[in-house]
Amino acid sequence: MPDAGIGGESLETKEKDENKNRWGNEGQKVIMLVENLSKTYMQGKIPVHALRCACITVRKGDLLAIMGPSGSGKSTLLALIGTLEKATDGKIILDGIDLTSVPENLLPRVRREKIGFIFQHYNLVPTLSALENVELAMRFSKVTKKDRRERAKSLLEDLGLGDRLNHKPAELSGGEQQRVSIARALANKPALILADEPTGEVDTKTRDSIIRVFKELSQKGQTIIVVTHDPEVAKECSRVLRIRDGMIKD
Ligand SMILES: Nc1ncnc2c1ncn2[C@@H]1O[C@H](COP(=O)(O)OP(=O)(O)OP(=O)(O)O)[C@@H](O)[C@H]1O
Ligand SMILES: [Mg+2]
Repeated sequence: MPDAGIGGESLETKEKDENKNRWGNEGQKVIMLVENLSKTYMQGKIPVHALRCACITVRKGDLLAIMGPSGSGKSTLLALIGTLEKATDGKIILDGIDLTSVPENLLPRVRREKIGFIFQHYNLVPTLSALENVELAMRFSKVTKKDRRERAKSLLEDLGLGDRLNHKPAELSGGEQQRVSIARALANKPALILADEPTGEVDTKTRDSIIRVFKELSQKGQTIIVVTHDPEVAKECSRVLRIRDGMIKD
């Protein structure tokens, strides 16, 4: 699997690189195929069609926004791709693996190795430092404790948190906590990052810095799907999918 980490390069935005790379993923390999994906929840006896026959092609390095009104199925789509929910119908092929046919007992491993999650409320462990939160994501990986620490440190430094390594979440700003959670999502070099409303809780300045981080990661080949209500976030993405009543428009 290619190294999807953010490496040692500075995360400072370089405008010319941005312009060169922004919409340039067409030639890249397909990293995920979603085919006729559906999810129906049963509300007592009444079926709720949260997602209907979704088809999506995602290429390596895509920064894909998913937009749509409340209740349209955005989180459902993310939960299915993230293997947190089972599809009623359809297929998801991620990095060569058919996620919809992975046996239940292997799902946690596939999830851990292939997918990084970023949440609106960060979901950091409050008793652990920034460094320990990122290390924790690698606890089942085969690398040594020393290498885990090195990688966590280097990810946090790349995200501008080199001087916040030993801070607990409560000692960090919202934007800093979200950057810790981005470092955590990157820890196992996932094929795909899923972010549900990652800028929902932060001010516009912090939002812009999170978008900048996403764009830089995408330029380095990291594939990211971000659910957002914010047109300013969507505007910066390479593609926008719109979803309404469980139906997707590319
Ligand atoms: N566990 C569940 N059981 C029954 N219905 C559900 C369940 N989860 C979601 N739904 C329904 O599925 C539909 C899609 O929900 P989903 O959470 O995907 O919307 P969303 O687009 O993420 O909305 P929001 O912008 O408010 O987060 C909604 O009608 C919701 O009520
Ligand atoms: Mg949602």
